[in-house]
Amino acid sequence: MTATEPDVDTGLLGFPPGFVWGAATASFQIEGSTTVDGRGASIWDTFAATPGRVRGGHTGEPACDHYRRYAGDVALMSGLGLGAYRFSVAWPRIQPTGVGRVESRGLAFYDRLVDELLAHEIEPVATLYHWDLPQALEDVGGWRNRDTAYRFADYAAVVHARLGDRVRQWTTVNEPWCSAFLGYGSGVHAPGVVDPKGALEAAHHLLLGHGLALRAMSAAAPAGHLFSIVLNFSAMWVDVDDEPHRLAARGVDGLQHRIFLDPLAGRGYPADVLAGTAWLGDWQRVVRDGDLAVVATPVDWLGVNYYSPTRVAPAPPDHVAAGPFAGLRGVELLPPRGELTGFGWEADARAFTELLERLGRDVAVPLVITENGSAFPDVVAGGRVDDGERTRYLVDHLRAVHTAIERGVDVRGYFAWSLLDNFEWAAGYGQRFGVVHVDFATQERTVKRSGHTLADVIRHNAVPA
Ligand code: NOJ
Repeated sequence: MTATEPDVDTGLLGFPPGFVWGAATASFQIEGSTTVDGRGASIWDTFAATPGRVRGGHTGEPACDHYRRYAGDVALMSGLGLGAYRFSVAWPRIQPTGVGRVESRGLAFYDRLVDELLAHEIEPVATLYHWDLPQALEDVGGWRNRDTAYRFADYAAVVHARLGDRVRQWTTVNEPWCSAFLGYGSGVHAPGVVDPKGALEAAHHLLLGHGLALRAMSAAAPAGHLFSIVLNFSAMWVDVDDEPHRLAARGVDGLQHRIFLDPLAGRGYPADVLAGTAWLGDWQRVVRDGDLAVVATPVDWLGVNYYSPTRVAPAPPDHVAAGPFAGLRGVELLPPRGELTGFGWEADARAFTELLERLGRDVAVPLVITENGSAFPDVVAGGRVDDGERTRYLVDHLRAVHTAIERGVDVRGYFAWSLLDNFEWAAGYGQRFGVVHVDFATQERTVKRSGHTLADVIRHNAVPA
């Protein structure tokens, strides 16, 4: 039997030996304690404090109070059998104003977290930027300011120097598309700016920061350190398989995927994306000599965040999209349909296999699923959370990953989003993604049925057929 053949006796679909099983979180979404130990303000503190920006007026307090409860949370991870844990470091805890002085109490927190993980034989996977930019940097332009890329590399080097004796797996930036196009395009994420041209500039500066950070860290890295970037992916679905529909899908794919994948792979920015964007502005001034070589600094693996397919249709050529795909011509995004999650996202797992096969063809490095999951409104009843819909989403999507692996795609690991219910950005605490339920009033944790299912999958290194 090969590693991924179904086991006829047990009815299980086995994953390759050594497949990494984990769960993921992000600093601002779980930590709370936003004003302690010298932490500076981040753009998400400011955004959440601005009326009307985050649903229900929710803020980063208390989140999951993980800053104080991290040891209990690591024990929970251990109980689930996780082999790895993907977390992010809050830049404003390390450098309160984003430049210069390093706050040792902030570094000490991640020291304690990493030690606790290692004591439980859980591999730490550190992300350096999961959206909590120091507010002081936003005050001078944020990611629209080229200098932020250099400041990010300095910060990355500080964290790497401190944790690199114990942390082997590093991600520079999480979902730069969201930081650029939701942060500065549609403005639905912090810093809440609507400046489509600035969003494109931010995308380049995020990639530049990624490359500079990679170079800074790998120059100092001992053998065995592995570096990555995490992108958010979808499968672009059309109703009709004809040229106009294929072109529309390619347009959205361009502004979400290829605008990152191509420069990372050393191909430069895709000409059709640049030509198809009404807001390009003075791109020559933004992308300077030598930048593309920095951006193309090789990574060891690519992180894939995947949640749902995107429905796309052609529109008249003079139609210019608004929102996150602002500036894109001749394309319309259609509402999701079929089976939806509680967040209203489409839950058809076939799109996941399709995406992974496409990435298997187009990407030269191994893939790691760094996020996948679903939000549903859960209730605790009799001390249990019977989240049947999330459990089904999880199993369906794991089968989809298994199928992709069977078809030859090199996927090395899967991280569930999320370990804990947490602060879901503009949706506040209203959307629960955890495999562990959090009562935000009492901070009580309850492993959901989906969490128990994930633990079974990990124990068998296999998903039910
Ligand atoms: C991707 C982001 O990285 C994460 O922070 C977010 O909570 C999930 N998507 C769900 O929206």
